[in-house]
Amino acid sequence: MVFCILALSNCFSYRPSRDAQSFNKLFKQLYGLLTNHQHLLKLCEIRWKVDMRVEIVQVFAALVVAIIASPISTSSHVVHEKRSVPPRRWSRHSRLHPATVLPIRIGLTQQNLHRAEEFINQVSHPESSQYGQHWSPKKVAETFAPSQDTLDTVMSWLSASGIELNRVKFSLSGTWIMLNATASEAENLLRAEYHLYKQQNGYYHIACDEYSIPSHLSKHIDIITPTVHFDRRIGAPRRLQHPDDLPLPLRGLNKRMTKRRTTTPHGIMGSPEDASNPKKGAAITNALMTLENCDTMITPACLRALYHAPLGSTAVKNNSLGIVEYTPEAFLQSDLDMWFREFSPSQVGQSPITKLIDGAVVQTQNQSFGFNGESSLDLQYGMSLVHPQTTTLFQVGDLVEGASFNNFLDAIDATYCTFDGGDSKNPTVDAQYPDTLPGGFDGPLACGAVASTNVLSTSYSSNEADLTAKYEERQCMEYMKLGLQGVSILYSSGDFGVAGEGGECIDAGTGTYNNGTSGLFTPSFPGTCPYVTSVGATMIMNGSTVRNPESAAELVIFSGGGFSNVFSMPSYQQKALDSYFAHNAPPYGADRFNNSQKARGYPDVSANGVNYVVAVDGDFSLVFGTSASTPTFASLINLINEKRIAAKKSPVGFLNPALYANPQVLNDVTTGGNQGCGTAGFESTTGWDPVTGLGTPNFPAMLDLFMGLP
Ligand SMILES: *[C@@H]1O[C@H](CO)[C@@H](O)[C@H](O)[C@H]1NC(C)=O
Ligand SMILES: *[C@@H]1O[C@H](CO)[C@@H](O)[C@H](O)[C@H]1NC(C)=O
Ligand SMILES: *[C@@H]1O[C@H](CO)[C@@H](O)[C@H](O)[C@H]1NC(C)=O
Ligand SMILES: *[C@@H]1O[C@H](CO)[C@@H](O)[C@H](O)[C@H]1NC(C)=O
Ligand SMILES: *[C@@H]1O[C@H](CO)[C@@H](O)[C@H](O)[C@H]1NC(C)=O
Ligand SMILES: *[C@@H]1O[C@H](CO)[C@@H](O)[C@H](O)[C@H]1NC(C)=O
Repeated sequence: MVFCILALSNCFSYRPSRDAQSFNKLFKQLYGLLTNHQHLLKLCEIRWKVDMRVEIVQVFAALVVAIIASPISTSSHVVHEKRSVPPRRWSRHSRLHPATVLPIRIGLTQQNLHRAEEFINQVSHPESSQYGQHWSPKKVAETFAPSQDTLDTVMSWLSASGIELNRVKFSLSGTWIMLNATASEAENLLRAEYHLYKQQNGYYHIACDEYSIPSHLSKHIDIITPTVHFDRRIGAPRRLQHPDDLPLPLRGLNKRMTKRRTTTPHGIMGSPEDASNPKKGAAITNALMTLENCDTMITPACLRALYHAPLGSTAVKNNSLGIVEYTPEAFLQSDLDMWFREFSPSQVGQSPITKLIDGAVVQTQNQSFGFNGESSLDLQYGMSLVHPQTTTLFQVGDLVEGASFNNFLDAIDATYCTFDGGDSKNPTVDAQYPDTLPGGFDGPLACGAVASTNVLSTSYSSNEADLTAKYEERQCMEYMKLGLQGVSILYSSGDFGVAGEGGECIDAGTGTYNNGTSGLFTPSFPGTCPYVTSVGATMIMNGSTVRNPESAAELVIFSGGGFSNVFSMPSYQQKALDSYFAHNAPPYGADRFNNSQKARGYPDVSANGVNYVVAVDGDFSLVFGTSASTPTFASLINLINEKRIAAKKSPVGFLNPALYANPQVLNDVTTGGNQGCGTAGFESTTGWDPVTGLGTPNFPAMLDLFMGLP
């Protein structure tokens, strides 16, 4: 190894400018002479003044350049992320051509995230004097921005690795570094081996099994993409038909690799095969409003009776209920009207306020339960339960690419977004806009384009095992930031009990998914993120009434629940989980679930999810799912916000600390289980449990609690 120390007398410090163009030009000038030195180890700094003038404020004594015999020693590299469970239905296809250009995104660690729990408790713990004093977007952005030290360290590494810094761009928020690099450059940089992966039905994805970075960078980098991540894209998947249809980075690929898509793959969210869709039961020809049939037919009247919730009576400003749907899933106005005529006549003709994100369309050309069931359910119940308050539909993704949770988060939060793809950064997974495919949306990616509502109900989810921990942690922190800003985020917990999203468990030997009759339980995501409210499902027992206690859902579906393999127990859950393990320890070991007693447990709460009467494609039928429970719970929270706003208080925001500190405001559910993976699953029991959480809403008690808070 040859070290060559060069001393340069002029050296500057840099700061990523708001004016990215000038910044890049500056780098071009200053480092033009250095680009030959492929192994620049340490750059010094250039200080960039915001007034658009470059001012050399500091002259360092020396710039230490170490030119090391190529390649740089691997000794300091440590594995940063590794995929242990191969994604469902994907197999390795071929080694990626070294000249393929990859859009590399380096997610920088943010400051103060270690204080996330402290901050969120300040605004959402009932004993906090600052309860309800939510943060401005500006305060959130400033508090969590990456540090100068992080920026400097990562830039030095890139430069030392032979990446000319004029190729590097920053996201607007400063949290992402972006770079187009060839596969061969990326493989050198990350000590990784890139492969093309193929899904059964002809979809392709670029990934590596693991990647490494120098150890001193571990604390500065969250994640790098594209690498090990296989996000679960929602909606219509990308059709790879002809090389010219491919997104630019893939165009160098061999034509053999681009087969025509023949069928819709199983499991893409928003598609008819999506496992998080609600489940269809019997057709109903005699939909009844009477409370005597709630054990076989749930209607809004049954839900109001169960939870002692009133009919809505007011519509204060800025309190629309938010429902999120992913294209091609869509509602039909004729179904809304058919259902309103039966259950809420004054709403006939009403539509949600529709926000179309990333070229979304509320499509009507494909109609079936798979295309319309979720939207019909969410909107019919949400709209009627909050009426006369409005409902806002966030319809996300175009018909060609669809979208992922990250696309939606970009759209409601500019600080999560960047000018070049945002946190929706993986072009073969998260949807990229403009969409270069035929018929795709050719407008820009929505970035802070729509305002969030106070409550967001999402009845879609995936498995923790589908994504990497770092990817999930980063997305989870975004939910925390929305919570700080006063948004309540509710996700369905899944419909397959302990067997995750789709009835699959994990083979402990191979780490792969099996057919769901044995193996490790599969926790769902985002439900295990400690900053969302995960909603499980209950039912009225056959022969019981709305006056009897409900049981965990055990008809058609089983309430998703369990313990995270990624997220540790938040402080608000400590008491509830300690008590659960002390009095009701489940009869399983580490061969089934994370039994450390230190993991985040889910769901948090539950609501009825069995036998909903829904109008879909011109017929009434029974519908089942935590997909039903989630908009129901969210609607009741929206009614509480209604009262708080009328009383000049803030919306409730993140719910969990207040609910766990006051479990008496929920009806404890103590019977039923959530079977799966060849077991009976967990059992509902006194107190919190990983089947029905704290229980179902006792609306008057919940209202009292939240109205009593500042
Ligand atoms: C990467 O290349 C694409 C296509 O040429 C371009 O649109 C994009 O701006 C480039 N990104 C960066 C960070 O240079
Ligand atoms: C409420 O709505 C008004 C416009 O109607 C808007 O200016 C304001 O920012 C909104 N406030 C919140 C908290 O969303
Ligand atoms: C939707 O309908 C169109 C037109 O009939 C058809 O070409 C397309 O394949 C359908 N999409 C799905 C996912 O079934
Ligand atoms: C699931 O897999 C197990 C073990 O491989 C096998 O014994 C069982 O028959 C399978 N069950 C189904 C329903 O496919
Ligand atoms: C409910 O109970 C009645 C009477 O015992 C029975 O006839 C009916 O099949 C049951 N329904 C379901 C869905 O189990
Ligand atoms: C269980 O959860 C704890 C706490 O979050 C975590 O440290 C541990 O790695 C998890 N164990 C497994 C096997 O996932």
